[in-house]
Amino acid sequence: MSLPVAVLISGGGSNLQSIIDKTEQGILDVDIRMVLSNRAGAYGLVRAEKHGIPTATLNHKDFGSREEFDSEMVRILKDAGVEAVVMAGFMRIITPVFLNAFPGRVINIHPALLPSFAGVDGQGDAAEYGVRLAGCTVHFVDEKMDHGAIIIQCAVPAYPGEDVEELRKRILVQEHRVLPQAIQWLATGRLSMHGRFVRLDESSIPAAPADCTILVNPPLEQGF
Ligand code: GAR
Repeated sequence: MSLPVAVLISGGGSNLQSIIDKTEQGILDVDIRMVLSNRAGAYGLVRAEKHGIPTATLNHKDFGSREEFDSEMVRILKDAGVEAVVMAGFMRIITPVFLNAFPGRVINIHPALLPSFAGVDGQGDAAEYGVRLAGCTVHFVDEKMDHGAIIIQCAVPAYPGEDVEELRKRILVQEHRVLPQAIQWLATGRLSMHGRFVRLDESSIPAAPADCTILVNPPLEQGF
């Protein structure tokens, strides 16, 4: 049986789209029971509706506390039979009220190589800092922002003085690959958490040649 999941969004939902597409292609084995947004009018809601996925909008400003907001989200998601939650551009910190309802089953994508550049503009902060390698991280969610145990990271090169929108796009292309991959590992029971470490059952992953698992930017010259 496919893992029943919810996707939480706050905006455009391009990561949601990558999850929908991989699911419809039969690559990702989940049942998207609900897309929930904390912002009315988020384009991700339209994307969900186009694919016949139930949606809910819950404005956090209508609640007196984070806990009250989280407990209403839990009620809606549990009613929909959800067992795991994917935060895909959901710009809210969640509380133990939410985490305890889905223990070890809430994951998030962040557009930076954590623990660097947590927060609302990971790509902009990395570009401003002048990093040569930027990227994205999928991690289990805990009570702190962009903090939980890391499942997968992908590095992409960053170039001095480039338009941050270019970097944002380059990272997003990879987000659309690593988030569905992490969800598939979760859905097939291949992840286990040991404190800050996430172990992946690698039995079916082909060994990559060493050169495929490093990225150096600027590239090394011949002989180094
Ligand atoms: C993505 O880049 C995601 O990594 C980021 O929001 C964007 C949502 O785009 N999330 C965070 O910054 C979380 N701290 P999308 O709505 O097109 O998927």
